[in-house]
Amino acid sequence: MNTNSSPSVIDRMLSIELARVTERAAVAAAHLRGHGEEDKADQAAVDAMRSELNKLPIDGRVVIGEGERDEAPMLYIGEEVGTKKGMAVDIALDPLEGTTICAKNLPNALAVIAVAERGNMLYAPDVYMDKIAIGPGYPEGIIDLNLPAVENLANVAKEKGVKISQLTACIMDRPRHARLIEEVREAGASIRLIGDGDVAGVIHTTDPDLTGIDIYIGIGGAPEGVLAAAALRCTGGQMKGRLLLDTPDKVARARKMGVEDPNRIYDMTEMASGDVLFAATGVTDGNLLSGVKFGRNSLTTHTLVMRSSSGTIREIKAIHHDMEKFA
Ligand code: FBP
Repeated sequence: MNTNSSPSVIDRMLSIELARVTERAAVAAAHLRGHGEEDKADQAAVDAMRSELNKLPIDGRVVIGEGERDEAPMLYIGEEVGTKKGMAVDIALDPLEGTTICAKNLPNALAVIAVAERGNMLYAPDVYMDKIAIGPGYPEGIIDLNLPAVENLANVAKEKGVKISQLTACIMDRPRHARLIEEVREAGASIRLIGDGDVAGVIHTTDPDLTGIDIYIGIGGAPEGVLAAAALRCTGGQMKGRLLLDTPDKVARARKMGVEDPNRIYDMTEMASGDVLFAATGVTDGNLLSGVKFGRNSLTTHTLVMRSSSGTIREIKAIHHDMEKFA
């Protein structure tokens, strides 16, 4: 059961509308799957997501987006979206999470969005975040960013009732993780090394039987951390994140966005609080979501839509016949 539930505040119809938003972005990116053109696929997804988002009856503000205003012409941090006639909400989005994955047509590229009441999402600057996450069903507090990996693994193994060697940790394949990878292997756990896409990496912890992943550990983008936290708020699970503010410039940028303590460890509920909606559509095939399938007279999308207040997780397999709309 989802133990992270919150009072229902956001119109539940919006969760279904969000599926349209991520579906459109995913299809736009999928047209460029495997073309080796990261930026082009990203731009296509951004355009599609923005156009669909602007149809929603919300007074929306992008808090996690494509970047700061001077570096991103669309869906920049602070951009107002929606018809402005509905509820005031904050939006975290990534129209194409895993641009390289999409360019190479590898698993787990997603179009992702999360919506929370205004003021309930961490305004994370575009820096790195140290993250650790596990799925639902564990007692609170068994993962801790201040503990060595081996202790976190031991805690999870004990609660799951298995040996550490029966656990799999998802870690991004990056030189910065060399020591972490060594530690996890020395502890005896298996590692799923991923090239990109740590939003999917974190979400995979929510269903280890399906994905084979028990725990996510490592450093990835802070914006992606907030998106992943929003997803876990809906599914249940635990996640901690610490912004890596290792230069005075990053500390200053973070301060401008309201981060007072540069060393603070955020709990998932501090990264995305209150009533949260989350939607993700597969661009490429993955463990949890299938990618977009182009048929003769239709195309098929696979989307997860989740809501923290109810803990409802909907899987929407949509067959779209209006191909023109997605051209
Ligand atoms: P993009 O979709 O922006 O390419 O991000 C992909 C990603 O792998 C994220 O999932 C992850 O959080 C981040 O990049 C890691 O950054 P880096 O590639 O610098 O290690």
